[in-house]
Amino acid sequence: MENFIFKNPTQLIFGKGMISKIAEEIPQDKKVMLTFGGGSIKRNGVYDQVCKSLEKHTTIEFWGIESNPDISTLRKAIALGKKENIDYLLAVGGGSVIDGTKLVAAGLCYEGDSWELVLNPSLIKTAVPLASVLTLPATGSEMNCGGVISCRENKLKYSFASPHTFPVFSVLDPETTYSLPSHQVACGLVDTFVHVMEQYMTTINQSRIMDRWAEGILQTIVEIGPSIMKDQTQYDLMADFMLSATMGLNGFVSMGVTQDWATHMIGHELTALHGLTHGHTLAIVFPGLLRVLKKQKSDKILQYGERIWNITNGSKEEKIEETIVKTETFFRSLGLTTRLSEESIGVDTINEVEKRFNDRKVAYGENENVTGEVAKEILINTL
Ligand code: NZQ
Ligand code: ZN
Repeated sequence: MENFIFKNPTQLIFGKGMISKIAEEIPQDKKVMLTFGGGSIKRNGVYDQVCKSLEKHTTIEFWGIESNPDISTLRKAIALGKKENIDYLLAVGGGSVIDGTKLVAAGLCYEGDSWELVLNPSLIKTAVPLASVLTLPATGSEMNCGGVISCRENKLKYSFASPHTFPVFSVLDPETTYSLPSHQVACGLVDTFVHVMEQYMTTINQSRIMDRWAEGILQTIVEIGPSIMKDQTQYDLMADFMLSATMGLNGFVSMGVTQDWATHMIGHELTALHGLTHGHTLAIVFPGLLRVLKKQKSDKILQYGERIWNITNGSKEEKIEETIVKTETFFRSLGLTTRLSEESIGVDTINEVEKRFNDRKVAYGENENVTGEVAKEILINTL
């Protein structure tokens, strides 16, 4: 195990009806800006619950943080927050609203343009306190300090992270997820699964406890995914899904182990260039990545195949192939396509991703060998 320092300050408030607790958590003297997406919370009753809880607080509202939050929208939120002297933020929605609000929290304390903070998060020296009410299990944003911000004008999508942008608290009520479109449910399941994979499918024998913890989340998603796709209003299943998503990306499975993240970085380019939903990009890229890197990752693929899919028969090569097929079939069983060609995306995009990685001189993965050239090979494997 490698050395590490771990700290996660976010308080979780979990369960039915727990939105009513937010009033107790936000000091009465704060001027709160509530940040929202496009309106789903008005239709499912979450907005009313939040307003009721905060009826004695001073609040203003900012609507319209879109999926894959855009810097132009967040600049408007920052301008409003500065004008109104906001000193607390409450994000109500999915990962996009929470991510966007993290940048707003930092941007309210920064003189320059907030895009600079995305490009260079070390410029974030402090932030306005932020909290969240999560309505979509997927990103883990409710209990981590990262965010992913898009700039549609230039077809860019970049992640940032800062110790100053952890939510103070996050409310997770599984009942808020009943109204999700089934495509978002499927994407959330895959996002959770691949978050764990980015921290697990690397080097073998680094930590038994991290491996078992990660496998526990993978196994849970494999077990509950099909039932959730049939009926997403089963409280106990959605509760496990919500907690799995949070635990998948709050630092608890990455202590002292190497991480990959190449699937995510390639996926972000597909969203930036074509608008594909985040989790869907991962369902396409991850099986392709396993195919291209199967030699490097062979021992870990075998461990994963045996422990999650009970694959024990055949040669090493056969077991690896069966494991990759099972993984892709699982994503497809949730109703997602897993091939770029099924989305009518072809070599032009693949060449553009390669060019972007080369221009940026980046190389991802636990061995820092996923260069532009390797990313291209991975995407060709998804055609
Ligand atoms: O905008 P509204 O009307 O709220 O609708 C949203 C949106 O259209 C809808 N929705 C959310 N909760 C709902 C609901 N509809 C009905 N009922 C509900 N309860 O779902 C749509 C998608 O929402 P969005 O927030 O975009 O999805 P998600 O939570 O998957 O977030 C995706 C963003 O998070 C980033 C992604 O790159 C993407 O930009 N990520 C953030 C991470 C992080 N902060 O750590 C890590 C992830 O890997 C990911 O990259
Ligand atoms: Zn993700």
